[in-house]
Amino acid sequence: MNKKLFIAGNWKSNKTLSESKVWMDQFHSDLGSITVVLCVPFTVLPYFHDTLAVSQSRLQLGAQNVSPFAGGAYTGEINASQIKEFAPWVLIGHSERRKNFGEADAVLQQKVDRAREAGLQIIYCVQDDKSVVPKGVHVVAYEPVWAIGTGKADSPENANAVLTTIKKTTGVPIGIYGGSITHENVKSFVAMDAIDGVLPGGASLDPGKFQALISAAL
Ligand code: PGA
Repeated sequence: MNKKLFIAGNWKSNKTLSESKVWMDQFHSDLGSITVVLCVPFTVLPYFHDTLAVSQSRLQLGAQNVSPFAGGAYTGEINASQIKEFAPWVLIGHSERRKNFGEADAVLQQKVDRAREAGLQIIYCVQDDKSVVPKGVHVVAYEPVWAIGTGKADSPENANAVLTTIKKTTGVPIGIYGGSITHENVKSFVAMDAIDGVLPGGASLDPGKFQALISAAL
């Protein structure tokens, strides 16, 4: 396969610092030429940043959210410049943020603007090919809500059709699929023309399963 693959693991609100250390000790994957981004909780970004620098791993880091505001009087928020010290990537627009935190297009646009100002690269999640995709995002992830964490992935053919439309209408060059991706089904997705990679959630939590998923995609 000659296309450059992109895999982004999304840990969501999982793992303490000590659990993260165990994961990192056990993760010894050959990433081949795949770009692999691990989107971890804010609390463990400094640990991963320092550990990956020492090990010279090609694994890249991402945050899962960013404040729509720059720094200042926004209690509890983590802004884009604070993320940039540790991670080059950020996930924006995940359906769990839209559903549980009421994030809609206007605030997501603000988040994209702040992330771009700080020089973060953006993985922007949408749930269908009608969703608004702000300008300047680097990767678009198609994640149908019904496929997330359910064990019922979309069909590779439908995901390919949706990503073909999204990539054509937005001009975003990298399109990935997320929703119940495992080491068993990853190959059938990345074999599709318009699918440049995947966004596993549950399957990134176990280092062995994540390694198997990367190997299966290679
Ligand atoms: P899942 O999650 O792989 O556990 O279905 C995907 C995601 O929400 O990013």
